[in-house]
Amino acid sequence: MDLSKAARDELVARAQAVRSNAHCPYSGFAVGAALLADSGKIYAGANCESASFGGTICAERAALTAAVSAGERHFTALAVAAGDRPVSPCGICRQLLAEFGEMIVLCAAGEGAGFRITTLSALLPDAFVKF
Ligand code: THU
Repeated sequence: MDLSKAARDELVARAQAVRSNAHCPYSGFAVGAALLADSGKIYAGANCESASFGGTICAERAALTAAVSAGERHFTALAVAAGDRPVSPCGICRQLLAEFGEMIVLCAAGEGAGFRITTLSALLPDAFVKF
């Protein structure tokens, strides 16, 4: 698994940009995610909160369901961006992403060029997957 610097930077920039579309009136915490499919297309998603808090959809799952709805099933990398320092995907998002196998994960802050690089299997070792 490898991703060029240009591709990493673009994915992080797309995750940061889509934060402006977040619906987060309860937390005020705008999260953006961008998912690079093997097709080369990027699917972006922002968090969408619910007054019934449990109904909230994270940015990563918003990006993933957009990609899956477009017919994508194989992914190279995910970028997630929010807050003052790099954030990483929550447990529920890790589990849903694991449905589609290994990928690079870029964890960024809401603004700025720096990010941390990891993998989904490092974030969710020994995952429960297809049975
Ligand atoms: N959130 C995400 O979008 N992704 C994560 O991985 C963690 C949390 C959202 C959910 C909620 O709208 C806000 O961040 C605060 O938890």
